[in-house]
Amino acid sequence: MFDGIYNNRRCLITGHTGFKGTWLLFWLQQLGAEVCGTALPVEEPSHYTLLKSSCSSYFCDVRDFEGLYRIFRSFQPEIVFHLAAQPLVRRSYKEPVDTFGVNVMGTVNVLECCKNCESVRSVVVVTTDKCYENPETGVPFAESAPLGGHDPYSASKAAAEMAVSGYNRSFFIPGGEVFCASARAGNVIGGGDWAADRLVPDMVRGAAAGKITKLRNPGAVRPWQHVLEPLSGYLQLGAGLFQKKEPLRGSWNFGPDENDTLTVVEVAEKMHDCWGKMCFEYEQEPDAPHEAALLRLNCSKAAEILDWRGVWDSGTAISRTVGWYREFYENQKVMTAEDLASYCRDAAERGLAWTK
Ligand SMILES: NC(=O)c1ccc[n+]([C@@H]2O[C@H](COP(=O)([O-])OP(=O)(O)OC[C@H]3O[C@@H](n4cnc5c(N)ncnc54)[C@H](O)[C@@H]3O)[C@@H](O)[C@H]2O)c1
Repeated sequence: MFDGIYNNRRCLITGHTGFKGTWLLFWLQQLGAEVCGTALPVEEPSHYTLLKSSCSSYFCDVRDFEGLYRIFRSFQPEIVFHLAAQPLVRRSYKEPVDTFGVNVMGTVNVLECCKNCESVRSVVVVTTDKCYENPETGVPFAESAPLGGHDPYSASKAAAEMAVSGYNRSFFIPGGEVFCASARAGNVIGGGDWAADRLVPDMVRGAAAGKITKLRNPGAVRPWQHVLEPLSGYLQLGAGLFQKKEPLRGSWNFGPDENDTLTVVEVAEKMHDCWGKMCFEYEQEPDAPHEAALLRLNCSKAAEILDWRGVWDSGTAISRTVGWYREFYENQKVMTAEDLASYCRDAAERGLAWTK
């Protein structure tokens, strides 16, 4: 897989204890990589604890440049995946200064470490589909669409994108040794996410406690996808940048099929069909902060240049996700390895380039 690039490769993940970071850590270790991670201390329950990973783990705030650079100097990473962030829209309204600090200066610090650390060859910075200026017309965003952001989270990720673009043009220039790209994905679901204010973890907590979950924004349309979908894109980018593929510098969308979008309530209904304990009702919030109601991504660049395509449709992503939590709460089983194996099998059956 991924041309064997990850075998024995030193890979550093920021945010390796988070939802996406833990799946990426697990996948990289399966590919034979030597992984080092840095994040904030974990909060339980945690997918990171459940995986019992043997990676070298540091607890360092990405805003602490000196601390971060010490980790880079000691581990000498070849490929860097930057995922550490304050990733929640609603929290960003309550903590805008922290959100901008972590998401913008944290990204700048990671880029600066990559610039100064001679071992680094390939850098993937994870932002979000919310980095686009969103007039909510329903037109899917291509990578060339203007950046923007109404809420502090979205705006901070648009600013992180500008930082990547600035470093790419100023320091990681053609002919240079560091190849860097940013990746924008949609609403990601999968087992092992217990973050606050997200639909799936909210429904999971409700089911585990025998309570009814209150849904906000039931009509909001989002590009839902299983966490393994953008990760296959990040890994493909990381490997291709390591191989010095010049056209891979820049920004990339990794979302589901443009027509495979569901509203919040449609997802909740499908989850309930998979596990009857997941019950919900609507809650009107009179003073709710603004959250975009409509968001679609155009992923034709990834399809054409990387031969990247989604493997699981939203229905499969939802049933796999609910199945993961059900096994965890009813049988204390962690299904991460099974999900990854069947995702890779399904991708190989479709002949996707990264499976070779
Ligand atoms: N989950 C989604 O649906 C989604 C969608 C689009 C983009 N993203 C992006 O993907 C990335 C990962 O998101 P996630 O869902 O795994 O989030 P998460 O909250 O589960 O994990 C965040 C990780 O970042 C670390 N972190 C947070 N603040 C830090 C700081 N100041 N210093 C060092 N580490 C810090 C945490 O310890 C954790 O390991 C983020 O950049 C996020 O913006 C997520």
